[in-house]
Amino acid sequence: MSKGLTVKQAARKAKVNRRTMQGWCSTGRVSAQKNEKGQWLIDKDFHIPTSRVSYRRLIPESSANVNKLGYVGKVPGSRDSSSWFTPKEYIDMSKDVLGSIDLDPFSSKEANRIVGAEKFFSEENSAFDNEWDVLTVFMNPPYGAKIINKAITRFLDQQYEFNFDAVVLVNNCTETVWFQNLLHCSAAVCFPRKRISFWNADGKSISGNTRGQAFFYFGNNCTKFKKVFSLIGEVLL
Ligand SMILES: C[S@@+](CC[C@H](N)C(=O)[O-])C[C@H]1O[C@@H](n2cnc3c(N)ncnc32)[C@H](O)[C@@H]1O
Repeated sequence: MSKGLTVKQAARKAKVNRRTMQGWCSTGRVSAQKNEKGQWLIDKDFHIPTSRVSYRRLIPESSANVNKLGYVGKVPGSRDSSSWFTPKEYIDMSKDVLGSIDLDPFSSKEANRIVGAEKFFSEENSAFDNEWDVLTVFMNPPYGAKIINKAITRFLDQQYEFNFDAVVLVNNCTETVWFQNLLHCSAAVCFPRKRISFWNADGKSISGNTRGQAFFYFGNNCTKFKKVFSLIGEVLL
């Protein structure tokens, strides 16, 4: 690593003081080596350790935010997971990895106000009837037992055909065939350390999510996926 960063340069890049950077070097939290003078040289593409990340400030510590606490489902009293929208911070992370989102295949006009995909399919203009001929996809499909299997099969078929990059957000149902298929075909997966508090169309968090989630990555830039998503949980490549 002849062209590494000095502690001062790396500290400036990570917006920490030099002592913190030195601590990260000596505990192996950043990739670094000592030169012949005994000074640390840090890999110029080093990852900032998890506790210093800006996204973390955006991820709510608890779903029970008294200012945003909403209700379960589309309307008070229902549990319709069709309207469990992805919170913006996870959309921003996905855009960071993908560059932009060309297509959200399972969505609606309301959901796309948050997702901001160039194009989306909906119940009226179904993902099962249209081709996914794009470069990037963000997908958070409906969770109903009948549709999820079909949705993942459709995704894998279309990904194989058009070879787009994608981030796929699903519940962590490791025991299901569709989850195993995603594991088998994806390039990487992140298991967030907290359950996601999904949003409703009105921007309120939906309470009562009893499942954890997983983000799957399809594409060639696993380094970028790991850099961005390891901020919220373990990433396996
Ligand atoms: C869990 S929500 C996710 C919405 C959005 N993708 C997001 O991440 O916020 C699933 C969405 O899929 C839509 N949907 C259901 N069946 C569909 C179909 N056959 N084709 C396209 N979208 C569909 C629902 O109306 C709902 O908006």
